[in-house]
Amino acid sequence: MNRYTHVVGWGIGTPERVITNDELSRTLDTSDSWIVERTGIKERRVGGSTKSLAVEASTKAMEVAGVNPEDIDLLILATTTPDRTIPATSVTVQEALGLSCGAMDINAACSGFVYGLSMAHGQILAGANRVLLIGAETLSRFLNWEDRSTAVLFGDGAGAVVLEASDEPGGLLSYTMHADGSLEHLIYCDIPGTIFMKGREVFRKAVQAMEDACHKALEKADCSIDDISLLIPHQANIRIINTAAERLGIGSEKIAEVLSWTGNTSSASIPTALVDAVEKGRVADGDLLLLAGFGAGMTSAGAVLKWGA
Ligand code: UT7
Repeated sequence: MNRYTHVVGWGIGTPERVITNDELSRTLDTSDSWIVERTGIKERRVGGSTKSLAVEASTKAMEVAGVNPEDIDLLILATTTPDRTIPATSVTVQEALGLSCGAMDINAACSGFVYGLSMAHGQILAGANRVLLIGAETLSRFLNWEDRSTAVLFGDGAGAVVLEASDEPGGLLSYTMHADGSLEHLIYCDIPGTIFMKGREVFRKAVQAMEDACHKALEKADCSIDDISLLIPHQANIRIINTAAERLGIGSEKIAEVLSWTGNTSSASIPTALVDAVEKGRVADGDLLLLAGFGAGMTSAGAVLKWGA
């Protein structure tokens, strides 16, 4: 019997505190028009802990899936901003949710959620029945709020999915992962420290990385860009998303976007955009979704997901 990995539950965790571009302009040499034109970001949400946001997203995802704590066989938390260096933040999430399964953090920066999908799929092929996969971040803790080149870009948040084994064909059709450690210097955060980024260079690499990840994921799923109902890209910059979409040949009406109200939430951005699209009724059973992430490392990852049974 073949095993397939289906998304059966979803949810997001969103901090209450909203910081608008105008608010940032009061303390930084920046403006709403610069931030909107160069990034597409209008506001971002900050606050909470990586654990609390992950728990909020997961509680909703488990409710949608209709599963109990004992039904989850593994918890994977993709994060680049754990609450502590030791232990993994996932164990604190596990405890809060009342799970008794294994729990681990993975860090592949903004590609973390898509990396996590492939890890979860591997575990499902190996016999796990349900995996809780979360992308959660509190990047606001690692920002230099006096540095306009980074402070305006990032936000906090979480998105979670329950993945379930099934013999029904569909679900995760393909995935691809890539990393190029020679580009470590383009985005980093020392311990202790704040996020440093060479924005313009990252921009150029990001467009190419996203395009490559999409082409590879499409090829592995044996489908073309015309078969895709919705592109769910990492939410870093609307210009990166639009440039990559144009090069891929996918229309702007087929792009999931939350960046304008979340900012860049790293590994939380793709699941947040996915859940937002589902909740807005933009995803129907049988739709093919193309997920594409890129980020510090530089890592990149792509996946094709067939929604519904
Ligand atoms: O998720 C991880 C991956 N990260 C990314 O994908 C981010 C990729 N990079 C970007 O999104 C863009 O490069 C940025 C949004 C970071 C910057 O946009 P840009 O169009 O590449 O601007 P730039 O860095 O070339 O800077 C242009 C000008 C500079 O001034 P000068 O040298 O031309 O006088 C900057 O100092 O804009 C200035 N600038 C700002 N001005 C107002 C930089 N940040 C700001 C700001 N407000 N917040």
